[in-house]
Amino acid sequence: MAYLQLRGIEKFFGEHRAIKGIDLTIQQGEFIVFVGPSGCGKSTLLRLIAGLENIDGGSLMLDGRDITDQPSSKRDLAMVFQSYALYPHMSVYENMSFALKLAKVDPAIVREKVERAAAILNLTTYLERTPKELSGGQRQRVAIGRAIVRAPKVFLFDEPLSNLDAALRGQTRVEIAKLHRDLGATTIYVTHDQVEAMTLADRVVVLRDGLIEQVGTPLELYDRPANQFVAQFIGTPQMNVVPLQQLPAPVQQQAPAGAAGGAIGLRPENIAVRNTGTTPVGGQVDLVEALGAETLIYVSTPGGAQFVSRQNDRTSLRAGDAVSLDIDASQAHWFDAAGHVVAGQGA
Ligand SMILES: Nc1ncnc2c1ncn2[C@@H]1O[C@H](COP(=O)(O)OP(=O)(O)O)[C@@H](O)[C@H]1O
Ligand SMILES: [Mg+2]
Repeated sequence: MAYLQLRGIEKFFGEHRAIKGIDLTIQQGEFIVFVGPSGCGKSTLLRLIAGLENIDGGSLMLDGRDITDQPSSKRDLAMVFQSYALYPHMSVYENMSFALKLAKVDPAIVREKVERAAAILNLTTYLERTPKELSGGQRQRVAIGRAIVRAPKVFLFDEPLSNLDAALRGQTRVEIAKLHRDLGATTIYVTHDQVEAMTLADRVVVLRDGLIEQVGTPLELYDRPANQFVAQFIGTPQMNVVPLQQLPAPVQQQAPAGAAGGAIGLRPENIAVRNTGTTPVGGQVDLVEALGAETLIYVSTPGGAQFVSRQNDRTSLRAGDAVSLDIDASQAHWFDAAGHVVAGQGA
């Protein structure tokens, strides 16, 4: 049975239809990530679920209860924001216990809950400090702790790691994943970062311009994107998408009929760079990025197509070198003129 059910959810800001009818079913315990480019409506959708914005159309059910018009305080959800919004003059303990104290929970129970959350988040030794005596990562953990002590039905996160530097972001991401495994709480997490989406989610919801483009497990989206937008949003470097007419004839001939006027999509790992003259697709190296564990080679062809190839071994190739591209067409994604995947992939 659905735990959280969104049906035809809409939101207008004045004339602007920011959320254009979202249908989504979330199961209990799932970790769902909303991902998409800036301005696509991720935060708005989360705020509609949280009750921080009014829903203009559609309905929202939580655990069998219609909460569409319920105030935020009655929804049994807890939100963690990008800005930690901690009370600066209160200790970590007071910050984490504040909501329970307001709710007049027995102080002994409050202590027990805060101490348990602090232990989970490695904050036990910091309980008497104030936020300014903490690092960014510790503050973010306090913000998460504040949500945990409320034991909500659903955790809502809006880009909680954006303010952290790269190393801490990676570390906190691992902690959030562990936390979800330990608590098993239903979680909705918003990010513009597809790597965060891929690493954290049970299912990813790709949003664009107020609409859902695709919902799936991380690898479903990677292996079977429904359209060119999802194909290029998920994965770094981006999937190569090249118009059919720019492809050499031997590759064009492998395209299914529906791809006429469309494009081929190839992940960088499905293109290999070979010695010049060894395949029908010739090209020239534009750039080599040696990242250590992997090497990215950017190649352009006489037809005007540009490809990036990812390989695990290092290369002695340099910009300007003539090469041949070995394209694994069995791994190709074919898109029609509108950017939708062509059914019955492969020739
Ligand atoms: N309070 C608001 N008033 C007017 N427009 C808003 C408001 N909040 C968001 N928007 C608009 O709604 C769209 C989605 O915004 P948002 O949900 O913040 O995007 P995201 O979180 O995906 O970056 C944007 O076009 C944004 O400008
Ligand atoms: Mg946002």
